[in-house]
Amino acid sequence: MISEVNEIVSNSPAGIFIDATYGYGSHFNYLKQKNGHLEFIGIDRDLEAVKNSSDEVLNIKFSNITDVLSIKNIFDISGVFYDFGISSHQIDNPDRGFSYLNPGPLDMRMNQDDKITADEVLNQFEEEDIANILYKYSGEKNSRKIAKAISNSRPLKSTEDFSKVLKDVLGKQNPKYINQTIKRCFQAIRIYVNSELEEIALSINKIQNFIKPGGVIVCLTYHSLEDKIVKDIFNDLTVTCVCDPRIPICNCDTTQNFKFGKNKKLFPSDVEINKNSRSASATLRYVVKI
Ligand SMILES: C[S@@+](CC[C@H](N)C(=O)[O-])C[C@H]1O[C@@H](n2cnc3c(N)ncnc32)[C@H](O)[C@@H]1O
Repeated sequence: MISEVNEIVSNSPAGIFIDATYGYGSHFNYLKQKNGHLEFIGIDRDLEAVKNSSDEVLNIKFSNITDVLSIKNIFDISGVFYDFGISSHQIDNPDRGFSYLNPGPLDMRMNQDDKITADEVLNQFEEEDIANILYKYSGEKNSRKIAKAISNSRPLKSTEDFSKVLKDVLGKQNPKYINQTIKRCFQAIRIYVNSELEEIALSINKIQNFIKPGGVIVCLTYHSLEDKIVKDIFNDLTVTCVCDPRIPICNCDTTQNFKFGKNKKLFPSDVEINKNSRSASATLRYVVKI
């Protein structure tokens, strides 16, 4: 949805714009090329992505996004763009352990300096904690059964071992359903390992204070958990009154800081989905500082 993102970004006032999920820089470079009035700074928690870039990219988690301001002596920014989740480079590299399709180590850390790995979660966590992670982050209805099977199959040594446990629990079912379930369980462990949802809330809540009038917060989400967090934060940021709806007169002194743009949310076109199947689950949301 690069052109939709660009349309929003291009309407932001001149100044500094942060790409909080640089990845391999496709959005960054497209936006930079199209928006001469903006100076772009990228950040990514993955050192490999940062090392591969020829642009100005800082290796930090976006929950620490305001560090960019202190490091660069910046007081306000024109906007921030988030393209959540993992990059295709990360998923395609078997050594990172993100993919259920490739044999690899049980790692799944976006930043390889982080302490918790998928290995630790699957081999050392209590069965009940694993069940809760699977249920919370994938909605998996067999989460208890799967957690028990994981615990009984320890030590799990690779992504293949994890896939096999899942396949064995699911038994003979529609292969598409089995693949979807394995994918969701891998994603659940990944979300936990990287505290992905907590990162989103922390980052947006911190940076919103530093966006200048007319500036934007733009988010591309890829699953309902990410999207719900963004939706809730944006609803809070755009709130105009917090009075009890049963009281006819507003007596709160809420100041509305952001407003929704022309569209509250946008989805990829069929043409885009045909070209890039990963975009099928994307939702684009943005708010504009008043
Ligand atoms: C979907 S990719 C972004 C792709 C990018 N827009 C591009 O055009 O190449 C997501 C990127 O965000 C990074 N990322 C995810 N969570 C992060 C966080 N909390 N802080 C910083 N970077 C993060 C990942 O390491 C990954 O490189």
